[in-house]
Amino acid sequence: MTKQVKKRADQIMNNTRRRFLKTSLMGSAAIAAGCTSEVSTDEEAKIDTWRPLRILILGGTGFIGPHMVREALRRGHEVELFNRGRTDSNLFPDLKLHVGDRNNGLEALEGKSWDVVVDNSGYVPRHVEDSAKLLAPVVSHYIYISTISVYGDFSKPIDEDTAVGVLDDPTTEEVTGETYGPLKALCEQRVISEVGANSTTVLRPTYICGPGDRTDRYTYWPVRTMRGGEMLWPGAPEDDIQIIDVRDLAIFTIDCLEKKITGVFNTVTPKGSFKMGDLLEDCLAVTDADTMPTWVEAAFLKNQQNISLPIWEDPNGPSAELLTVDGSRAAAAGLKNRPTRETARDTIGWWKNLPAERTATVKAGPSAEREAEVLSLWHDQNH
Ligand SMILES: NC(=O)c1ccc[n+]([C@@H]2O[C@H](COP(=O)([O-])OP(=O)(O)OC[C@H]3O[C@@H](n4cnc5c(N)ncnc54)[C@H](OP(=O)(O)O)[C@@H]3O)[C@@H](O)[C@H]2O)c1
Repeated sequence: MTKQVKKRADQIMNNTRRRFLKTSLMGSAAIAAGCTSEVSTDEEAKIDTWRPLRILILGGTGFIGPHMVREALRRGHEVELFNRGRTDSNLFPDLKLHVGDRNNGLEALEGKSWDVVVDNSGYVPRHVEDSAKLLAPVVSHYIYISTISVYGDFSKPIDEDTAVGVLDDPTTEEVTGETYGPLKALCEQRVISEVGANSTTVLRPTYICGPGDRTDRYTYWPVRTMRGGEMLWPGAPEDDIQIIDVRDLAIFTIDCLEKKITGVFNTVTPKGSFKMGDLLEDCLAVTDADTMPTWVEAAFLKNQQNISLPIWEDPNGPSAELLTVDGSRAAAAGLKNRPTRETARDTIGWWKNLPAERTATVKAGPSAEREAEVLSLWHDQNH
């Protein structure tokens, strides 16, 4: 028995024991009805047939990758990585690393096979096509991490069937704010045409947040709240917002590969379930600060230059639907969103333990000076 099979068998035996105890507590009638022996036979069959999946992650050492790696290992699977060895290269010293660059450097993957590949690092259609072509014959499932930025029009309601954006120049490989979404849409199409829709999962996350986020877009809110004083909150408490906790995305990704869930899925918090006012309450609850929120109307903010307010969108603006994407398909397939309070709590906990040079600058949100200026203009207008 390999180490992973033994670990998984132990997990199943522990579950069986727990269920046995639970059944016993349900009373002798249940035992007399044979519940315990049925559970036991079923679980034993699982031990006989279960084997770890051999997972290749293209990437694995940035933000979402490490959460996926840990979740897969926790469930007893085998994980190998492919990357250039530049980002956090000491993170997983025990994992097999195939070193290469997606830009014409896939040799390290040749002549090998895995059960499933999770592609986190594909931004350029040519790179994704190359990896999908090489891996299609040697994996039975390809999971491509895409984005909700693929959609072409954020002024109308969005589900997975909404049209994706199209590049002005379909030959470009330059990833910019404008090309990122349509390039990812082309990447999705290349995977599906190389691997086949029946063996492909495309996950389209919205803003991914939680411990390890390098963008600080969600992190800005609890961190700024922690600083205290008067704080600018854009729009109104009832404005919709949408995120996906990185741990929920990781769990769903590993569920997809274990259960071979294929198809295209928006991975978001349920539409309409999370509002700016909820975010404020989360931030206040997880920080011990004397912060005084001031809600500043969207119409006023529209006329201010150089004020970045991450994740929020003007509900009457051209991108209003970016934060009300339909995620019901993924929910039906098993995606579960943890309480957003937990995301806020763990984000601030992670932030507090980062080195001072990392926390010296928050990469998103307005500077303290700009925030104070805009607040002052807002107060002037209202007095
Ligand atoms: N952040 C968000 O809010 C958000 C939202 C929606 C979708 N997404 C999607 O999430 C994915 C990004 O996740 P992540 O960066 O956290 O993933 P990750 O798997 O944790 O990290 C990215 C990995 O890619 C490797 N890599 C980068 N360039 C490479 C290259 N040319 N060749 C080979 N390996 C390369 C990096 O290692 P080396 O540098 O060592 O090569 C690193 O291991 C993207 O697909 C993005 O579109 C993100």
